[in-house]
Formats: sequence, C-alpha cells, structure tokens
Amino acid sequence: MYTRVGVKGVDSLLDDKGIPGGHTVLVLGAPGSGKTTFGLQYLVAGAKAGENGVYVSLDEDPDRLLESAESLGLGVKQQVAAKKIAVVDASPIRLLPAKVKLGSTEIGRKEFAVATLIASITDAIKKVGAQRVVIDPISTLVVHYSDDYERRIALLDLMAATVKSRCTTLLVAEMSDPSLQRRYQFEEFIVDGVLVLTRVLSGQNFTRVFSVEKMRGIDNDSQPHPYRISEGGIEVFPTEQLF
Ligand SMILES: Nc1ncnc2c1ncn2[C@@H]1O[C@H](COP(=O)(O)OP(=O)(O)OP(=O)(O)O)[C@@H](O)[C@H]1O
Ligand SMILES: [Mg+2]
Repeated sequence: MYTRVGVKGVDSLLDDKGIPGGHTVLVLGAPGSGKTTFGLQYLVAGAKAGENGVYVSLDEDPDRLLESAESLGLGVKQQVAAKKIAVVDASPIRLLPAKVKLGSTEIGRKEFAVATLIASITDAIKKVGAQRVVIDPISTLVVHYSDDYERRIALLDLMAATVKSRCTTLLVAEMSDPSLQRRYQFEEFIVDGVLVLTRVLSGQNFTRVFSVEKMRGIDNDSQPHPYRISEGGIEVFPTEQLF
C-alpha cells in the first residue's frame, strides 16, 4: 500500500506510486521554501481521498497558519471544518519552563515536551481516524537537545508513536545548509525518506528546486527538478531538468 503525496508532480518522481504506507519522511527545506505549504497540500489531498490527517504545529499559531493557507487557496479550512483534518497546536511547548512538575515529581522540559507531544498526537489521530500526520517543524523540538544521542532517541520515540498508529508521516525540518553540496543532517539517516526543497542560483536568478533524496522501497528519481509556489500551492515539474 502506498500513500499518494498529492502535490502536483511529486508522485511521478516516486515511481508513480507515492510513499510506502506507514513510512516516516523528512521534508527538509530552506526558510520560506514552502515546507508548510507542502505538508498542508499532502493533508488536503489525503482528506479528499478519504485518508484523514493530523497537522501538528510547533512554531506557528494555527489560526494564522490557516489564514495564509487560505490566501494560497489550499482549502485546508474546509477540511478542518469537515473534521477530516485535525490541527494540534503544540506551539506552547516552546514556552515551557526548564522543569515541569508532574504530580510530585519534577521532570526536565525536554522529556516533558516529547511525552506531551506524543500524547496529543496520538489523541488527535484517534479523534479523526488519521492515516496521515505532519509535524511542522521538528527542529523546534530537537533544538532542546545538545547531545546527539539524546536527540536521536527523542526523534525515534516520536517516530515510533506515529508508526504504531500506522500513519504515513511527514516531519518538516529546517535545512541547516541549503546548498546542493551540503553536509547531511542527523535526521536524514533515521527516516525512511527525504524530500528536499531548496533554491539554487541559475544565472542571475534563484530557481526553486525539489528533489527526492531517498525513499526506502521505491525506485525514485533523485534528480533536482524545478518547482513553483502559486495559487493552489506547490507544483513540481518532473520532466524539467535543472542543469
Ligand atoms: N500567494 C502566493 N503566491 C506565490 N507564492 C507564495 C504565495 N504565498 C506564499 N508564497 C511563497 O510561499 C513561501 C512560504 O511558504 P511556507 O510558509 O510554506 O514556507 P516554509 O518553508 O514553511 O517557511 P518557514 O521556513 O517560514 O516555515 C513564501 O516564502 C512565499 O515565497
Ligand atoms: Mg513553515
């Protein structure tokens, strides 16, 4: 079983199949590259195909986010109203104090953040019977961990929760180096797939570029292809080459 991404041009780069069901895929992108738009389009496409979704916002206020999605005409609000997409506002996690009292014991902010997040995601998945999840961005969560090992564990815990619910999940992450010849980020090794949204200088102009860096279980096209953001959201041009 495959989960169609539903963003124009993307599934054809995934052997015309999509993402293998239950996989966790990183959407890695530069600032303003359209990561949130991509995630919302994925959920709307699902809702229209009878696969409900959960959107977890870690940075932005969900109301503002839905407003800007509306200005692009993504049609998210309509699906939220129809209870096909549930929105979880996890943005208060940023504001947690260093220590949190849980009954009579005190635990650290980061442990609390992951545990609370997992609980609210699992709840939301049950509520709408979700098969798709988007967590945007995980960067806000992992930034609490200075230790590499702890960071991996936190991410693996989060992934285990959505995998257990049999959801196909997109984890949005900020790209620390937006060039095409960049160093890999730790998240890329853990997940099943990586989609990259960035931009390159071609001549005097920046061109937005999309690539499928990896997708376990799929014979994917891994070449960079141009994409555009306009009314209706993101469109990738799978037959256009960059160089
Ligand atoms: N109506 C529109 N028409 C064309 N492009 C738009 C429109 N609205 C937004 N954009 C583009 O979409 C980008 C924002 O998309 P989005 O919020 O999905 O990006 P992001 O990668 O999630 O950003 P951030 O790094 O801030 O989280 C803007 O930088 C802008 O270039
Ligand atoms: Mg965003």
